[in-house]
Amino acid sequence: MIQSLFPEGFLWGGALSACQAEGAYNIDGKSLTIPDVMKFNSNNDRKVTKQMKINREMIEEAKNDPDTVKYPKRRGIDFYHTFREDIALFAEMGFKVFRYSIAWARVFPGGDDSAPNEKALQFYDQVIEECLKHGMEPLITISHFDTPIVLIDKFGGWYNRRLVDLYVNYCEVLFKRYKGKVKYWVTFNEINMSVKAGAKTLGIIEYDAPNYEEMLFQGLHHQFVAASRATRLAHEIDPGNQIGSMVAYFTTYPYTCKPEDALQMQKDDQMKNQFFLDVLNLGEYPYYAKTYFKDKNITLHIEDGDLDSIRTHTADYVGMSYYNSMISSSDTEQLELTAGNVHSVYKNPHLPENEWGWQIDPVGLRYTLNLVYDRYHKPVFILENSSGFYDKVNVDGTVNDPYRIEFLRKHIEQMGLAIQDGVEMIGYTMWGPIDMISSSTSEMSKRYGFIYVDQDDYGNGTMKRTRKDSFYWYQNVIRTNGAEL
Ligand code: BG6
Repeated sequence: MIQSLFPEGFLWGGALSACQAEGAYNIDGKSLTIPDVMKFNSNNDRKVTKQMKINREMIEEAKNDPDTVKYPKRRGIDFYHTFREDIALFAEMGFKVFRYSIAWARVFPGGDDSAPNEKALQFYDQVIEECLKHGMEPLITISHFDTPIVLIDKFGGWYNRRLVDLYVNYCEVLFKRYKGKVKYWVTFNEINMSVKAGAKTLGIIEYDAPNYEEMLFQGLHHQFVAASRATRLAHEIDPGNQIGSMVAYFTTYPYTCKPEDALQMQKDDQMKNQFFLDVLNLGEYPYYAKTYFKDKNITLHIEDGDLDSIRTHTADYVGMSYYNSMISSSDTEQLELTAGNVHSVYKNPHLPENEWGWQIDPVGLRYTLNLVYDRYHKPVFILENSSGFYDKVNVDGTVNDPYRIEFLRKHIEQMGLAIQDGVEMIGYTMWGPIDMISSSTSEMSKRYGFIYVDQDDYGNGTMKRTRKDSFYWYQNVIRTNGAEL
């Protein structure tokens, strides 16, 4: 057998989020979340990524409308009822880890309830037990793009400092309940998305405020403080807990070798990626962020003890998702835009793209892993990586998906080379091992899975699960610890 580049015990697996998979949006006491009020939004213009603006009218309209066709994330793939069968399929592939999120709005449906919703916790008890039964590490994301609506109605989202205490209280419930069962945690999914998608991640919807960006950074400051306090608590409750910071890394290259382009690249990398990881891993607001705030007239309200907490309780590992890279230039006039995860990017002429316009760049993953490890000296966990594809079901019910295998093979190859370069890595949870509702467009037909789910964009279908070709391919990747790709 060929020698594997991956260390023994490398955590191979996959990742899902509650808000895209679980469904059961109003069952067992759960209250509404941002994804529950996001309408189906098939993006016909594949060159531009548009962020859906969530406003009060939309929220009020959604509250009075029980529709699950218009609001696909409310039905997800019914993981709430199929988790046993689905986790068994992950186990069949040999998963060593399963990343899943807990829905805050299930655990604290009223936002500031005095006690958690026991029914919700019983559901997550079962999900976690199911993982452990199959010898899989459950990796829990505490907040994955699903701010409870009630926290917007009552407090105005993360702009309000009150959310820090509410979040830490929610974390305490989870850390105590899952002590000895869950070791790996992520405080906030892709915390850097907040700047582009403030409604989704921070629940801040006052787009017309005189300085909306200031509100976002204030909300973000609250999340930084909350993450540091949660990290402290996690370590106190169980010193074995490993708390991850996480960004969606938008790797960027200078468009040309002009020094001005390189400077622009540095700036983009700083404020799109590094700023977030710097605060969470190095424990301080970097100088360039302070300059950025000054230039943008942003003044943060920082309370006594905040900076101490951020400095003292940093993350244990660097988590990142990796979907598409981008380019930076001091003169963007000639450049063409293409879509990307959460925001559009300038097109790199050297890269192919998927049908949604997201550019495919496996080598960028090796580059990014080296960059991140060099900067933080902490082990890196790839928490999401993959690409959306249209799948076709053959008449005999099988699904051939060589494009998915090719995408993942090339990325895993580069991850292996990064390990050979000396990067210390914990694991790899590819995004979406089973098809689910797309975060950006709420389409079902933008599929990521090794497992096909028979459901169309409008909720029609049997919901039957079918193993695609890539299922067997990934099974073999895990069996050989990445030696056979
Ligand atoms: C990541 C999110 O940014 O991108 C996931 O954490 C999301 O929730 C994934 O599903 C892919 O994006 P999309 O829009 O294709 O589902």
